[in-house]
Parts: sequence; structure tokens; C-alpha cells
Amino acid sequence: MGDYRSIYARSLKDPEGFWGEAALALHWEKRWTKVFDPDSPPAGRWFPGGRLNTCYNALDRHIEAGHGDRLALIYDSPITGQQRKFTYTLLRDEVAALAGVLAAHGVAKGDRVLIYLPMIPEAAIAMLACARIGAVHSVVFGGFAAPELATRINDAQPKMILSASCGIEPNRVIPYKPLLDEAIRLSAHKPDACVIKQRPQVEAPLTAGRDHDWDTAVAQAEPAGCVPVEATDPLYILYTSGTTGQPKGVVRDNGGHAVALHWTMGNIYGVGAGDVYWAASDVGWVVGHSYIVYGPLLAGCTTVMYEGKPVGTPDAGAFWRVISEHGVKVLFTAPTAFRAIRKEDPEGKLLHQYDLSGMTALFLAGERCDPETLNWARTMLDKPVVDHWWQTETGWAIAANPLGVEPLEIKPGSPAVAMPGYDVRVLGENGEDMPAGELGSIVIKLPMPPGCLPTLWRNDKRFIESYLSQFPGCYLTGDAGIKDENGYLWIMSRTDDVINVAGHRLSTGAMEEVLAGHPDVAECAVFGVADMMKGQMPLGLVVLKAGVSRPEKDIVAELVARVREQIGPVAAFKQAKVVTRLPKTRSGKILRGTMVKIADGAKWSMPATIDDPAVLKEIEASLKEIGYPRS
Ligand code: COA
Ligand code: AMP
Repeated sequence: MGDYRSIYARSLKDPEGFWGEAALALHWEKRWTKVFDPDSPPAGRWFPGGRLNTCYNALDRHIEAGHGDRLALIYDSPITGQQRKFTYTLLRDEVAALAGVLAAHGVAKGDRVLIYLPMIPEAAIAMLACARIGAVHSVVFGGFAAPELATRINDAQPKMILSASCGIEPNRVIPYKPLLDEAIRLSAHKPDACVIKQRPQVEAPLTAGRDHDWDTAVAQAEPAGCVPVEATDPLYILYTSGTTGQPKGVVRDNGGHAVALHWTMGNIYGVGAGDVYWAASDVGWVVGHSYIVYGPLLAGCTTVMYEGKPVGTPDAGAFWRVISEHGVKVLFTAPTAFRAIRKEDPEGKLLHQYDLSGMTALFLAGERCDPETLNWARTMLDKPVVDHWWQTETGWAIAANPLGVEPLEIKPGSPAVAMPGYDVRVLGENGEDMPAGELGSIVIKLPMPPGCLPTLWRNDKRFIESYLSQFPGCYLTGDAGIKDENGYLWIMSRTDDVINVAGHRLSTGAMEEVLAGHPDVAECAVFGVADMMKGQMPLGLVVLKAGVSRPEKDIVAELVARVREQIGPVAAFKQAKVVTRLPKTRSGKILRGTMVKIADGAKWSMPATIDDPAVLKEIEASLKEIGYPRS
């Protein structure tokens, strides 16, 4: 314990002392030569010269300290009615066996392995197995379609792919193998082998010579030991949405990542060894990487892997059932999950049926948390509800209320204050510091703390262009917001074409590319409109090519199907409208921001740079036809 202000001040004044001390909590094969090397391109590296193994620190270290019988992972799947529990020893054995399978196929340190798995224990086992032998995993979320998977296969060039026969959503079973086969067909790079976990719901046909049955391979495997890697070696690549259809391959290193995540468990979340920690997210997202798998295990906690939804599996009491049944101390989820629960059970009748006395706090992130949702959760739970702000690139919270250090005042609508190592600034257009309370671009003055991305996969150039160029010496978060006079941050919106749908980060640029590929579409714009449940929803406006006279409803249905087939159901692209023109500036830029304001019923003014003011009036009328702004 300490006080937040002095800890934070020290982290900025003496980052090497601060993180060097934090690193001592882990096992290092070889001590680092420097805590931070600012000269290592492109933006400095943490713990160069140090060697460690992330899997060893997450599993073996606890077993060797005598905690092998402690629960490491609880799999709770209301969607299949299954539960499985893994002690640290059992999880390590499963991981070592799968690592042996990878090694037997020639996967070695630095090779990539793509993981396309639903929320089953094998997903965590696969990630840790890669870490064990120094292979670099790249997990792809199950809600993405084959072309998105193909893009990632091409970029990461995996030697092997680990997948399952199916994922299960409340309304359907999704066979994964056809998606995987199609993705491999589409991609120029071909993996040497695939290992497929057969689930009882669907039997996947295996391609002879390439595909292997998971259980058979694991049963025959020679367990593999931990391979120490450089602290600066990549642990994983996680693709995230950027401005274009080409996702960004966020790289995470081994050393800085383990140090930072370990620090966060005690200091931000206030949990330690033996505590049950549950991040209700998906391993396909950064929250799943950091807080379903690595963070809790590095800290010796029990992590919960939940294959279900906040509502409908079977009801809005599902979260409370899991918390009481497994003794969850801290729950981490996205605000949208709470909006869904609140809609079904506004008075918390289901909540009050369960014993939640072991729970100390709820953490929310992934999207802006509206004060109403936060206050509802707070009233219902009668526990601290902490909004915290971060992104795939940082891997852990940029701003939070560090309950483990010192609970600070909760201001609904704000994710509280900057975490250690993050020198957060709010800048104006010319790079000037904005006064307290005024809106600007949120940046982090370099260096970023350990755990944040050192670069993009094999693309330093894009890393520099995307994040470091607009404001030299600073990392651009892509979010706009305010810092108040007490240092609290208020995250207002994105400054790019990224939208956030039910806590999922999506690129409107990628959706525009898909719409533009429709033979009848001449031009299009996709933007995010406010949605009561999901925060935002994408809406597409399309201008048809001259002479196209097919019914609008057919074209819209095709556009919706197209986005689903090419990006995936997770894009939740369900609404489009044909318009005659799109509003543009005189230099030809589409005025998406103004259309968002019109659709959301916010105050808007005619942009001075508009080419033809009449177009916005037409758009206003078109949006009205499909019910925008919502009443
Ligand atoms: N595999 C395949 N399809 C998937 C999928 C997966 N892993 N995850 C989601 N999908 C599909 C859904 O079935 C849905 O398809 P549909 O259009 O046929 O209904 C679509 O993608 C959108 O899914 P989702 O965003 O989950 O919306 P939903 O309406 O099914 O559920 C919530 C709404 C609020 C219950 C849900 O979004 C939720 O639990 N959110 C929690 C947020 C979260 O985990 N965020 C991660 C970052 S912390
Ligand atoms: P992702 O990379 O998918 O985690 O998405 C990161 C983006 O989600 C951020 O850049 C923000 O735009 C948004 N986000 C995440 N957490 C919050 C939060 N607590 N408040 C506001 N926006 C958030």
C-alpha cells in the first residue's frame, strides 16, 4: 500500500527504479542489463538483456513454490452445461503436453502459431503452450469471418494453427473448420499443420496430411519444458482495428508485459495469490489476453473462463451465479454487459438471489461507461464500480482507480487517473497542452510504460506513422478527451474511424471497403451511431452507380450479408440506407462527423468547408426515414 500520488510521481521521475523493483516479483533466468533502453528502435525497449519465460512465471513458478494444488482455471460454460477445474499442476501438464505437440511439429522460438478457438480451456492452454516454447501466438476472435482470418494468417505467417470444430453462440453452433479451411484457401501463406479440438456439438472433417486431432496429438506428446527467451522477444501478436481494412498487428514483448501485468493485479485490482478473478470477455480480445490468461496466472490467482453471455444463458442472473458459485472477488467486464443485464432485470431481482459477499469490486472497460450504467451497477452491487480506460496497444489500464493502492473518489463518467508510467497529456491541434477541462487529443508522452506495444508486427514504419508522427515525442491514443483540474480523465470519442460496438473495436474504414466492393455501390460512408445497448452501432449510407434501379431493400440485405461474410457477425452491421449524395468538404472529404451528430440528434452546425449545404439536409431527411435520431 502507499498513496497514489507519490507512487505515480515516482513512476515518472524514476521509471527505471519503479519498474526494476516491480520486476523482482518474477523469476528471471538472467537479470536485465538495463531496465529501459530509450535508444532501441522504434521507441525504446524494456528489460533488454533479461531472459525469462512467461509460462514459467505464470504456472511452474507457483507450483515450485508449493502451490500446485491451487486452482488455476475454472471453466464455466452455461452454454454447454459443462464445468472443468484445473489446478496449477494440471494446467501446467496440459500446457506442457500441447507445447510438446507444437515442438514435435517443428515449432520453435520465434515461430508464429495462430489460435482460432472459442472460450474453452484449450484456448488458454494454447496460448501458454506457445509461451512455454517461445513461439509467438496470434489469437483471432471467433466472431470474425474467413477473409479476416486470412488477412491475419498472411500477416503473421503461422507455422501452425490451433482451432476447434465449433464455437457456440446462444442461437446457433458455428462450425469453425469451414471458416478455417476457407481462410487458408484465401491466404497466400499456408500453415504446415493444424491441430483441431473436436467438440461434441460438431465433428470437423480433418484434411489428411495437414490436420491433426487435438486429443490424439496431446495424448502422444512428449511434454515440453520452458524455453527462456529475451525479455524483448515477442510473446504474442494481437490484431486490432485501425483506420483501414488492414488490421494492426500489436506486438507484446515477454518481459515488460509480465512485469506490468503482475503489478496491476495487486495494485489496480487489489487481488493476490489464491483470489478468484474473472474477466468476462473473450480470449480473442486484449482483455482476454491480459486478464483471462496472463495477469491472473502471473499473480497466482484462479481465473474464470466463462463460455456464456451476461443474459440468456440462461438469464440475467448468470454473472451473479458464477460469482457466488466460484467465490469471485473481482469481476471485469464491459459496460454493455451491464446494460444488457439491467434491461432484463432492472430491479436486480435475480442479483439479490445470490450471495455476492465475497466480491470486492467491479471493473468496467472496453468502451465509454455511461454514468447511468455505472450508478446502477453501484447501487445494485453496493461495491466500488471502477471504470478504467485502456486499449489493445497498451495491454493494461492507462487510467484507472487503483483500488489495491488506494481507492480514490469515483466520478461517474471518468475512468479516473493516469496509472504509473503513463504521462498522459491532452493536446490541441498544434501540439499545445490544453488547459484543464478542455477537449483535445489524448497522448502519452514517451516512453510508454512496460507492457505497451513496442511496435507493430514487422512494421515499424506503420507503428511510427500511426502512433508517433502526429505529435513528436508522444504516442497518439486515438481518443479525444479532457483532463480536469484534479487529473481525472474524461474519454469522449475517437479521433479516427474506429467505433466501439458492444465493447468490440471495429473499423468503419474496413466496412466501407466491403460496401464499396458491392457491384451496385458507387460511394459509401459508414459511421457509428449511438445505441442504448451496444454503445454504438455501425450505419452505412451508400450512393448507387448510375442506372441501378433494383429495390433498395434487396441491396441493403446484400450489403448486410456482405459485411457478415467478409468481416464477421461481430461487426453487427445491420443498417444501411441508399442516398443520392454524400456530404463532402470542398476538398472531397466525407463529413462523417456531422452525419454522426445528425443521426444522434446532437447539436450540429453547417461545416464552413462544406461543398454543398443542401446535401446535409438531404441526409437529415434520409436518416429520419430510418428512424434517426432515435426518440
Ligand atoms: N463467434 C461467433 N460469433 C460471435 C462470437 C463468437 N465468438 N461472438 C459474437 N458473435 C456474434 C453473435 O452471435 C452476434 O451474431 P448475430 O448478429 O447473429 O446475433 C454478433 O456476433 C454480435 O455479437 P455481440 O456483440 O456479442 O452481441 P449480442 O447481441 O449477441 O450480445 C451482449 C450482446 C451485450 C450480450 C454482448 O455483446 C456481450 O456479452 N458483451 C460483453 C462485452 C465483451 O465481452 N466485450 C469484450 C471486451 S471487454
Ligand atoms: P480495444 O483496443 O479494443 O481495447 O479498444 C480500445 C478503445 O476502446 C479505446 O481507445 C477507447 O476508445 C475505448 N475504451 C476502452 N475503455 C474505455 C473506457 N473506460 N472509457 C472510454 N473509452 C474506452
